[in-house]
Amino acid sequence: MKLYIISNRLPVKVANPNDTFVFSRSEGGVTTGLDSLETSYEKHWIGWPGICVNKEKDKQEINEKLLELNFHPVFLSEAHIRNYYEGYSNSTIWPMCHYFYAYTLYKKCFWQSYQVVNQLFCDEICRLIRPGDKVWIQDYQLMLLPGMLRKVYPELCIGYFHHIPFPSYELFRILPERAEILKGLLGADFIAFHTHDYMRHFISAVERVLHIDFKLDEIQIGNRVVRVDALPMGINYELYHNASQNPVVRQAIDRNRTLFGNHKLILSVDRLDYSKGILHRLHGFSSFLEHHPEYHGKVTLAMVIVPSRDHVGSYAELKTKIDEEIGSVNGRYSTMNWTPVCYFYHGFSLEELTAMYYVADIALVTPLRDGMNLVAKEYVASKCDNTGVLILSEMAGAAVEMTDAIQINPNDSGQIENAICQALEMPAEEQKLR
Ligand code: UDP
Ligand code: G6P
Repeated sequence: MKLYIISNRLPVKVANPNDTFVFSRSEGGVTTGLDSLETSYEKHWIGWPGICVNKEKDKQEINEKLLELNFHPVFLSEAHIRNYYEGYSNSTIWPMCHYFYAYTLYKKCFWQSYQVVNQLFCDEICRLIRPGDKVWIQDYQLMLLPGMLRKVYPELCIGYFHHIPFPSYELFRILPERAEILKGLLGADFIAFHTHDYMRHFISAVERVLHIDFKLDEIQIGNRVVRVDALPMGINYELYHNASQNPVVRQAIDRNRTLFGNHKLILSVDRLDYSKGILHRLHGFSSFLEHHPEYHGKVTLAMVIVPSRDHVGSYAELKTKIDEEIGSVNGRYSTMNWTPVCYFYHGFSLEELTAMYYVADIALVTPLRDGMNLVAKEYVASKCDNTGVLILSEMAGAAVEMTDAIQINPNDSGQIENAICQALEMPAEEQKLR
């Protein structure tokens, strides 16, 4: 029997520089987290390979390569990418679920394309599955899919996991297609969220929009029972914890130590996304530098920022603001032998990333909203015998579990500044204990 994981993005993304296809690891919590899932089922994955190709020959080439990994690509046209991916998924649902109400766009063509692409995924699943297989659908890009699939296969075992916050009813109700979305989700047998709060919000939305009541964690839909639960996503702990034993990582650790010298290293890692509080972090760090000249020349903030959704207006504008803010901090405080903010605008390999986690004295994780935030967990797991402090926004799903981190409200730059001081001065024993 097979387990089909269905997500908008495959764990591998394809690019086409110089007319040859290049395959690399995708960033983002869904794929990095689930890619190391161990199961007794034969694991297959259906998703978009992250590139637009039109020629059949190219599709064939990508298909063959991905099939070796049990990955089944769903190819999207340019119009689908614009309206389903950048549009309904990332300009309507994403901002709404992250409480960025003012960024939410509504367009008929977005919704139409969202329906069409969910149907494309449904068709691909129907082509592949056999009796007894299980289907596990991931995330907000595919919320209609459970319902579509249920219509074709009344008996199929379907799970759905929502990787981002599910907002309060007061916000969710603004969505014109709120009823269709909820009905789509209820096509699954089991719907899970990272936290109890997100699950409560979902239950409340169903009860108020569809006027059907839950009995604790269950709801009756026709002759089926749908269950919901809060199941916070974890990481492959061993992969991160043992990474420093890998010779490639070891070399990168040594390189980083030489590069950052005796400076205390503060690390942040995220996709370039307004939900991640990147500007708030920079304001907090700038305020720390302003009020603590004793640390000048002794502390560096390394920011790994992965390009993301850069054709969406709100993301492109943020990039400009981040560039400006980093320029302003560095312009103001840099000396001949110290640059306060070290900025990387590209993805890191797993080896490079784990080496950075290992070396960093502090991880500064400041989202304004985040479904979970796996980076926080990966940082802590990457520590072996060495020390480190996690500063974590209370707005991340991870904050519910990681209560021994220094928790901050990212909207308060004073709190970020104080947390950095507390982390820099924290005794090694306390760091290990936490
Ligand atoms: N990541 C990566 N390479 C990078 C930066 C990040 O592979 O250069 C991974 C990181 O290890 C983590 C994921 O991207 O697993 C980000 O997940 P998270 O839950 O923190 O945020 P998301 O991007 O899903 O919102
Ligand atoms: C978040 C979302 C995922 C998404 C990832 C990367 O983790 O929950 O569904 O895949 O970000 O975003 P992208 O738009 O590049 O797939």
